[in-house]
Amino acid sequence: MSYLSDLDLERLPRHVAIVMDGNGRWAKQRGLARTEGHAAGEEALFDVVDGALDIGLEWLTVYAFSTENWKRPPSEVRYLMYFNRRLLQRRRDELHERGTRIRFAGRVSDWRVPRSVLKEMDEAAELTKHNRRMTLTIAFNYGGQTEIVDAVKTLLEDHDRGKLKGERITPESIASRLYFPDMPEADLLIRTGGEMRISNFMLWRAAYSELWFTPVHWPDFGRDNLYEAIRDYQKRDRRFGRIEDQ
Ligand code: IPE
Ligand code: IPE
Ligand code: MG
Repeated sequence: MSYLSDLDLERLPRHVAIVMDGNGRWAKQRGLARTEGHAAGEEALFDVVDGALDIGLEWLTVYAFSTENWKRPPSEVRYLMYFNRRLLQRRRDELHERGTRIRFAGRVSDWRVPRSVLKEMDEAAELTKHNRRMTLTIAFNYGGQTEIVDAVKTLLEDHDRGKLKGERITPESIASRLYFPDMPEADLLIRTGGEMRISNFMLWRAAYSELWFTPVHWPDFGRDNLYEAIRDYQKRDRRFGRIEDQ
């Protein structure tokens, strides 16, 4: 069943952010290793990215590895470290041809991230930086709190250099120092895998996100699920603190 027909393409969310969760449980249910769940999850991502491009979504951000995921067993962490490389080796040129700007948000140059992976990420970001059809941001070694901490650090440096006075600090002072200041607020935040929590994703830009949860594990998620979420989003009344019809 396709939900595409019900979508109002004139009223798409500008920015969809996704917590891709449930890979491990998907694998366990099938008697497979957790890494097999992650491999299946990569296929799901391809379908969602293609589906997003097909409808003309402008910003798609996906959570691939959190600052807390280092606490997992070393073999799983190692597999997840190579997620970006596998993705880029398989899809970089095609995504480039389809006008996708690829970016990585997080503490990407952490010493624990393999250099070969980092190089591939840098090259992909450089190659695609002028593309404007869609921006695909991969949140990698990303934590929402860490992102705010990093913004506050540069804010303090500017303050110490006399460039900014304490009383002039506004939410915009933080927003303009996040990993990508040009990234718009997340309009729709999707989490798969049944958990109803944020797990440190997009804290700043999720302030007024519409939340959409599904029990579907990420490897079983596809473009139709994305369209279903967007269709539900289009029925929501976003008030931003105001009252209806104001
Ligand atoms: C999401 O799936 C992928 C990452 C966190 C990288 P999980 O690996 O968290 O899967 P579950 O939640 O254990 O099922
Ligand atoms: C969030 O999922 C992180 C990613 C999807 C990359 P987790 O599986 O790490 O979150 P918790 O542990 O269930 O909160
Ligand atoms: Mg999980």
